[in-house]
Amino acid sequence: MAEENNNKQGAASKPPVAGKPKPPAAKPSAPGKAKPSTAKSGASAKAKPVPAKSSPAKKGVYKPAEVRAEANPFKDSKTGVVTGWLQERFNVLVPVIDYLKKKEVPQHRLSFWYYFGGLTLFFFSIQIITGLLLLLYYRPTEAEAFARFVYIQTEVPFGWLIRQLHAWSANLMVLMAFIHMFSTFFMKAYRKPRELMWVSGFVLLVLTLGFGFTGYLLPWNELAYFATQIGTEVPKVAPGGDFIVQLLRGGEEVGGETLTRMFAMHVVLLPGLVMLFLSAHLMLVQVLGTSSPIGYKEAGLIKGYEKFFPNFLAKDGIGWLIGFALLIYLAVMFPWEIGVKADPLVAAPDGIKPEWYFWAQFQLLKDLKFEGGELLAIIIFTIGALVWVLVPFMDKQASREERSPLFTLLGLLVLAFMLIGTYRVYLEYGW
Ligand code: HEM
Repeated sequence: MAEENNNKQGAASKPPVAGKPKPPAAKPSAPGKAKPSTAKSGASAKAKPVPAKSSPAKKGVYKPAEVRAEANPFKDSKTGVVTGWLQERFNVLVPVIDYLKKKEVPQHRLSFWYYFGGLTLFFFSIQIITGLLLLLYYRPTEAEAFARFVYIQTEVPFGWLIRQLHAWSANLMVLMAFIHMFSTFFMKAYRKPRELMWVSGFVLLVLTLGFGFTGYLLPWNELAYFATQIGTEVPKVAPGGDFIVQLLRGGEEVGGETLTRMFAMHVVLLPGLVMLFLSAHLMLVQVLGTSSPIGYKEAGLIKGYEKFFPNFLAKDGIGWLIGFALLIYLAVMFPWEIGVKADPLVAAPDGIKPEWYFWAQFQLLKDLKFEGGELLAIIIFTIGALVWVLVPFMDKQASREERSPLFTLLGLLVLAFMLIGTYRVYLEYGW
């Protein structure tokens, strides 16, 4: 069983065979069970370890044991020159590589869904690369932002392509993240011990949506300007909401200050936070392994297990190539318009709407257009998000490897809410 294999590895992974013969004291020993090192002095090898709390005079003061555990039990592992050099300095390298090599992915009729996490990661990498290139020419000021976008789009060699890739890849990343979230939800991949994968994933989704929201204003065009005006107004009705609106806008209205803030969040704060949570998410994926749907093992529906490295990763790579081809096709055939420059003094034109991934929430706000309706919508979003993020802790049945139809129903309701809301906005406003 892949997951169990992975789970057992901490205990099972032995330090690899010693390369060159070494004095017995330097022999690698299992982590945690490391023998006392005698490397410093032969005489001290005979000395008995002094218990840390031996002296009453030093009460409350931590006294480290004189004989310490071997800090680098894997230092004599059989490795190549480069890995060996790194291993000497980065003690845990060999066990980490050892671990990665053992990860396996279960194969069954739903394995297809395992590719969407990797695809989200792929489009995120495209965002980093194209975003950095756009940064070479973009200037986040009210006077220059729009003109720089026109310049990138029309003058900079391949600037149009980089901009289109960034805009399309953002949309594909959000789409992949949603598909990945719902597929892991319906496969109950969040169940014990994967609760933190779900929580870190949820934070990643919020950050991804944050990228979309903050990036929307950067071209400083009319549509983005007024959509940001509406979007940043939403918290106003909540307690303490005025403060949040001020914080987001940097003033009473959307203006140059807002652009600076959105830019700072888009290129510094959000990427930093994503890196942090992504590292945790991916580390958990490696440490806990990939789950299989409830009951599949017992029903004999698992066809086998595939090594993550290199087999599954190679298939992931094929998925990325297909994703890249689709991205290029969309960027070339369906370019995003720049629109007209924002003018805060003119009235908002008709048909202002946010990006498609906020349409369901936007529709709810429109449906609750009565006294107190906006506050009600905020309460619904907040409670909904809290319930959603806490699902792994509430779904006790799934954690006992039992089916949990109530949670499947919850997932279906959330999915239906999102699809219907999105479709209704599409019907009213078009694309
Ligand atoms: C920036 C966004 C995200 C990235 C780059 C990402 C990446 C990944 C990758 C590469 C995997 C392993 C392969 C796979 O099972 O698909 C994975 C697994 C997982 N992710 Fe995400 N993820 C993201 C967002 C999310 C979200 C929004 C959730 C849910 C709220 C989530 C929950 C999970 C879970 C539960 C697993 C474990 C799947 C299993 O064991 O079967 N992730 N993620």
